[in-house]
Amino acid sequence: MEICTTKAAIRAQRQDWRNQGRRVVLVPTMGYLHEGHMSLVRAARANAGPEGRVIASIFVNPTQFGANEDLSTYPRDPERDTAMLRDAGVDALFIPEVSEVYAPNAQTIVDTSELSRILIGKLRPGHFRGVATVVTKLFNIIQPEAACFGEKDYQQLAVIRTMVRDLDIPVDVIGVPTVREADGLAMSSRNIRLTPADRAAAPVLNAALTEAEALAAEGTTASRIRSHVRARLDGEARADVQSVDIRDAETLAALSGPLAAPAVLLLAVRFGTVLLIDNRVLAPP
Ligand code: PAJ
Repeated sequence: MEICTTKAAIRAQRQDWRNQGRRVVLVPTMGYLHEGHMSLVRAARANAGPEGRVIASIFVNPTQFGANEDLSTYPRDPERDTAMLRDAGVDALFIPEVSEVYAPNAQTIVDTSELSRILIGKLRPGHFRGVATVVTKLFNIIQPEAACFGEKDYQQLAVIRTMVRDLDIPVDVIGVPTVREADGLAMSSRNIRLTPADRAAAPVLNAALTEAEALAAEGTTASRIRSHVRARLDGEARADVQSVDIRDAETLAALSGPLAAPAVLLLAVRFGTVLLIDNRVLAPP
């Protein structure tokens, strides 16, 4: 596995592969890798095909963290990450410093104006602007044919699909299903920061989502599903519920009546200082 810390080095590597006619698939991450990330790597490998190449990136992107968020305490373990990616057959790793990625006087941002201001965008102002900007930069630096993103960050995936459409970015966006712990908790680099008691309580998110799926199958309206889920989460004393939303699965437009098309139930719940998110696509009956 080639390890590149500069834009010039990863571009040279990418150019070699272009000259050889190879498809390149990118897996962007912020590191502290777990099985969710590795599932993206496997999807990338499969999409790239036997002759293709997979590039992973590790970059804890400061512009997507708010002033009071966890940038400085975001977990990091680049050595372990590098070994995991090498073992998984990744061909190159782009792992730059912040100063390599952002010019000190950087002024240009990418903002999906409506999508970035709803849901998680309301809880974390500026977050999706930072994500859209860094992903655009990674796409421009690496110029992959395709890139893999997790459905766990459902709104992030919607932001990236929208930005790629609106700006005619020639990258296929591949969504990958959420990987969970045995007790149903969606894997996240942040789970390590949960106290033991919060970790024990956190599977309530998955439990509530599964109940919602059953309600949707019975023809329950969006607003009733939402109330049920809200009450279920409020019943867990350690859960500080930030938002429970049912939206059109494609446009993220708000819904209240009977489900007529696929909807998505989106949860954001704080346990102590840790914000956990999860979601489930609900099929109409
Ligand atoms: P990070 O949180 O490291 O996640 C990297 C990728 O892994 C994202 O596409 C995310 O959706 C996916 N992922 C995380 N947990 C997952 C799980 N349990 N199952 C499946 N996929 C999972 O998301 C980011 O980094 C950043 O915002 C980034 C896109 C890299 C831009 O900075």
